[in-house]
Amino acid sequence: MIAEATDLRSKGVFEVVAKREPIARVVEIPTEPTVGMESMLDEVWRDLGDENVRIMGLYGMGGVGKTTLFKNINNNFLNSPDSYFVIWVVVSKYRTLDKIQNDIGEKIGYSDKTWKNRNCQQKVADIFEVLSKKKFVLFLDDIWERIDLVRVGVPYPDKQNEPKLVFTTRSKDVCGRMSADKQVQVKCFSWEKSWKLFREKVGEEALSVHKDIPYLAELVAKECDGLPLALITIGRAMACKRSPQEWKYAIQLLKNSASDFSGMGDEVFPILKFSDDNLSNEKVRSCFFELCIVPR
Ligand SMILES: Nc1ncnc2c1ncn2[C@@H]1O[C@H](COP(=O)(O)OP(=O)(O)OP(=O)(O)O)[C@@H](O)[C@H]1O
Ligand SMILES: [Mg+2]
Repeated sequence: MIAEATDLRSKGVFEVVAKREPIARVVEIPTEPTVGMESMLDEVWRDLGDENVRIMGLYGMGGVGKTTLFKNINNNFLNSPDSYFVIWVVVSKYRTLDKIQNDIGEKIGYSDKTWKNRNCQQKVADIFEVLSKKKFVLFLDDIWERIDLVRVGVPYPDKQNEPKLVFTTRSKDVCGRMSADKQVQVKCFSWEKSWKLFREKVGEEALSVHKDIPYLAELVAKECDGLPLALITIGRAMACKRSPQEWKYAIQLLKNSASDFSGMGDEVFPILKFSDDNLSNEKVRSCFFELCIVPR
């Protein structure tokens, strides 16, 4: 048997035993069901199809739904007749240029460790070589400052109807600094949308336990001021409450010491505080606090 195996081995060609799986053109990103996103999604999708829009920025406050909208745009490319190659990178505040290059590299087929250890200039050359031959859309989620595409190796999207760059940011200024052809503001929800989302999270059963609860629930939802992140967090926390007293206590807590409310301290406030920490200096910060206490 050994002789037979040796003979077979000598006749075989084993340089490539398995081929790499082809890289998917678009990777679907899981999303939660959304409320009232269709019109915004349609608008952004239409703008993205415009050949004069090569760089698009979505801006808006923390927790307003930029990433959620972004994921839905990404998934729209799955059914799009345009054969765009879609690259998705989460940037966030502390992501280095090297990490961004690694994420892009992975998407275009440079996933091995040796490539990740190459120096920045070599990575620039590799990324540029691949992307300049592709019709691609680059999604950069959550950028906090201008990203110099040339330093990453991404060909500048300046040819009509070819590469596109779409990004999200909390800052309108960043949209300007990225020279966005189109800036779209993602706004807080209208009251109708807020109430719909809040009802969904609390659940119809919890709302119908007592005749006073729907009215008290409206007061709680109004405290969220149309911010989806707050509506979801508070709605989920209230889903198990069954008495009007618990709802009244929630209103009191939200008005007087919202950070003690379940989920607010760890899921909502850190996100909002991140924006406050990013204000340029103490003077701006104190102006912001002064304005916060002025009743609207
Ligand atoms: N239209 C919507 N319908 C239902 N839920 C939504 C909607 N928009 C946002 N959400 C929910 O609100 C929360 C915050 O949304 P998201 O993470 O997209 O905000 P963001 O603007 O990207 O915030 P950040 O600036 O912190 O990145 C998520 O839990 C998301 O599922
Ligand atoms: Mg986000």
